[in-house]
Amino acid sequence: MLDLTGKKALVTGIANNRSIAWGIAQQLHQAGAELAITYLPDEKGKLEGKVKDLVDPLQPSLFLPCNVQEEAQVEDVFTTIQQAWGQLDILIHCLAFANRDDLAGDFSQTSQSGFQLALDVSAYSLVSLARGAKPLMTQGGSIVTLTYLGGVRVVPNYNVMGIAKAALEMNVRYLAAEMGAANIRVNGISAGPIRTLASSAVGGILDMIHHVEATAPLRRTVTQTEVGNTATFLCSDLSSGITGQIIYVDSGYCIMGM
Ligand SMILES: NC(=O)c1ccc[n+]([C@@H]2O[C@H](COP(=O)([O-])OP(=O)(O)OC[C@H]3O[C@@H](n4cnc5c(N)ncnc54)[C@H](O)[C@@H]3O)[C@@H](O)[C@H]2O)c1
Repeated sequence: MLDLTGKKALVTGIANNRSIAWGIAQQLHQAGAELAITYLPDEKGKLEGKVKDLVDPLQPSLFLPCNVQEEAQVEDVFTTIQQAWGQLDILIHCLAFANRDDLAGDFSQTSQSGFQLALDVSAYSLVSLARGAKPLMTQGGSIVTLTYLGGVRVVPNYNVMGIAKAALEMNVRYLAAEMGAANIRVNGISAGPIRTLASSAVGGILDMIHHVEATAPLRRTVTQTEVGNTATFLCSDLSSGITGQIIYVDSGYCIMGM
């Protein structure tokens, strides 16, 4: 049975009710997991209040700031979890960022700083969060990240984020190989295009969505809930033999040649 009662889950990447992480958090909560939720702190504290109001019904035990570019904040998250819970079972990495200018036009125009920013936030952050989670996953664990087809094939305008997702998917494999001995599984979900804050920065996202609706075997895009269901499966014992994999939740789009 898909039952996460008693499991302790850290969920990153909720910005609003369209966030894929919000879909995942809801499904984990429904399966009985206890939640720690992080938000990206901003100077005026606006996002903190919005995310707090949104997640309140899920009664998270911990609600913590975490900008993954700030190593001290990442360390603080795990110190707090260690003190409050003593261990961790689930880590959801569901965040990415690139400059809007780098998500349209000629890929060769990507600046060094834009490249470094995208790779740091979107790919390296999985390494640093997994490093923090590993010593707390004393009973084994499951780490799940979110990726996109643009990391393995060329998708117009996805540009530097495609390179970040390629790195992220390789991170999944290296982390899975390292952590398997501790019964920690590491997998990625490659989701089809969904309208969110992050995806709206990608040039032509609506065209991408319409293309999927016309071409994918299921003739539609996927929902945050469908991604959340797959994440919940990957966090449960039902997926105990699966690690180092990228699972496509994309209405089957990736199988099509034309
Ligand atoms: N929406 C899609 O079409 C789609 C498809 C496949 C994969 N994904 C991936 O799903 C993940 C979630 O994106 P989303 O579409 O739900 O958009 P979203 O905008 O709701 O989520 C992105 C999150 O990243 C967080 N973030 C950005 N910079 C950060 C930083 N420095 N530190 C901590 N958090 C930071 C934001 O606060 C936000 O919560 C991303 O990895 C994205 O690439 C999205």
